[in-house]
This record gives sequence, C-alpha cells and structure tokens, in this order.
Amino acid sequence: MEHTERKKRIFSGIQPSGDLTLGSYMGAIKNWVALQDEYDCLYCIVDMHAITVRQVPADLRRRSLEQLAQYIACGLDPQKNIMFIQSHVPAHAELSWVLGCYTQFGELSRMTQFKQKSQQHADNITSGLFTYPVLMAADILLYQADLVPVGADQKQHVELCRDIAQRFNGIYGDVFTLPEPFIPKLGARVMSLAAPENKMSKSDPDGCVFLMDSPDDIRRKFKRAVTDCETAVKFDKENKPGVSNLLTIYSAATGKTIEEAEAEFAGQGYGVFKPAVGDAVIELLRPIREEAERLIKDKAYLQGIYAEGAERAAAVAHRTVRKVYKKIGFVER
Ligand code: TRP
Repeated sequence: MEHTERKKRIFSGIQPSGDLTLGSYMGAIKNWVALQDEYDCLYCIVDMHAITVRQVPADLRRRSLEQLAQYIACGLDPQKNIMFIQSHVPAHAELSWVLGCYTQFGELSRMTQFKQKSQQHADNITSGLFTYPVLMAADILLYQADLVPVGADQKQHVELCRDIAQRFNGIYGDVFTLPEPFIPKLGARVMSLAAPENKMSKSDPDGCVFLMDSPDDIRRKFKRAVTDCETAVKFDKENKPGVSNLLTIYSAATGKTIEEAEAEFAGQGYGVFKPAVGDAVIELLRPIREEAERLIKDKAYLQGIYAEGAERAAAVAHRTVRKVYKKIGFVER
C-alpha cells in the first residue's frame, strides 16, 4: 500500500428521509458500486441533514438502518468502502460550526434548494435548513475528498463547498482539498412513472418504485406508467418523455442499449412494452430486496458495520478538525 499512489477519494451521501428508490439505485448507488475498486470511497447516511425537515423518529431510525442494509445489498462492499452514519462522527457538527463562520449569509440565501424547500415547508424554515449546505461542505472537506458524486441538483452545493474551502485555504494555507462534483455521464436519470417530466421522487409514490417494493407493486406501477397516445416504442425525450423514461429504465436494468431495446419492441405497442420493463425491474431488484431483507434482520451484523465505519471515518475526520482548530487559533486540549 505504501508504495502505490494514493487513490483519489470519493465522498457521497444520501439522506434517510425516505426509502431508497429505483432512481437512487440507477442514478447513484449503481455508480458507487462501479467506483469502489478504483477509488477510496466513503458513503454516508446523512441523518443530520434529514432533520432539516421534521422526521418521525422511529421512521428515521428504521430508514437509516435499512439504508445501510440496502447499500450492502446493492453491492457496496463494507471492506472496500467506509460506510457510516453521519451523527456517529461528531466531527461533522464540529467542522460545520467553524465553516459556518466562513460562509456568507448571502451565499446561503442564493441556494436553489433552500429557496425550494423553504417554500415547501413554509411553516418550518429553520436555521438548520438554511445552513444545510455548510454541513454538507463539512462532510466533504473533513475527508479531503477529491470527487463528490451527486445529482445535478446538488452541484450548486458542491460549488459552494469549493468556495468555502478556497476561502479558508486563502487565509490559513492549504488545509482542504478542493473537491469537484462528479456527475457520472452513465448514471441514468430516472423520471417519475406517473409524471415523466419530473424526477422520480419518493414524494410521489405512484410514480416511484422503491427498492423494497414487492413484484406485484412493481408490476402494477409499470402497467399504469404514463406514456403518450402514439404506439411506437421510440426514444424521444421531448415528445415522448414517458416512453423515453421506460426505455432508459429498461436499458439500465438489462444492460441493453436504447437502440437494441427499440428494436426488440418494434411494432409491439405499449401493451407489451410496459409489462416487459416491469419484469426487467422486478428481476433486477429481486436479489437486492431479498439480500436487504436478510441483512435488516441481522442487527448485530449491521451494528458491526456501522460501528467500524464510524471508527474509520472518525480517524480521518478528527485529523482534519485538529488541523483546522489549530489554524484558527483554538487552544489545543
Ligand atoms: N445533500 C445531498 C442530497 O440531498 C446529500 C448529502 C449530504 C451529500 N452531504 C453530502 C452528498 C456530501 C454528497 C456529499 O442529495
């Protein structure tokens, strides 16, 4: 190990604020699995971000553990990756406070996600919701991550993180690695089955397939998927968003190209196509669901994984916090 070049480091996280979806799998986790050999990866269950909007405590706890089981069931190897729960590593809160003192009110006010979420939760616009991007910057900078795989909606947050890091380094010297958003070209952007103009989202259960959905649920959701009033199975995002989304899903589930999928369903109509996509997804998710169900029952195993993950993460994070505290003039304990 000592003689090999340092692998680039990756950090990413998903909030346990809802159950994982086919969109989370095809757009994020599947790519993480592909990265685990080439990079040094940390994958975090960001429960502290989840409480920026009100959560039911028992659900938050259940989903945090399920999310870990699902990461592993999707193929993330706990030996190769550090998988942990954000609240288990106090350095996230510690660095977040410091970075908040190097972030402008104006910068946070310009965040698109804050504007959206404060509209959605107009009765509960907390300072946590406002400073959410600072906590995210702490997540990333604590581990000196080089690359941050995120969806396009999170790019602005990673850019802010870079700005904060650059500002801090400008004052105190090179403390933080400047991270870059890493938006995989391959990652399928999965849209809602019910409203294919929108991204698949857990807040729209009809248009959303959850990783833990039963085959019957999946079959039903694909049968009802919105298409258009034509008959041809053709990829055309503009004019046929529903069919194009189904082709994207089919291609991601089977490994076939879009062209191969179009050819396969040429002249067959949606009555054949839609259930076939459903079946492909059922087969894709079956082993993941079964393995996750098995792991969720094995509390001791999961505990071992998240305890070890937190320990490994904390060792790295703690070094960064100490360095930062020293630089800004805190007395060493
Ligand atoms: N904000 C991200 C999202 O909602 C989740 C997240 C929190 C994250 N911390 C992160 C993603 C650090 C990447 C890196 O999708």
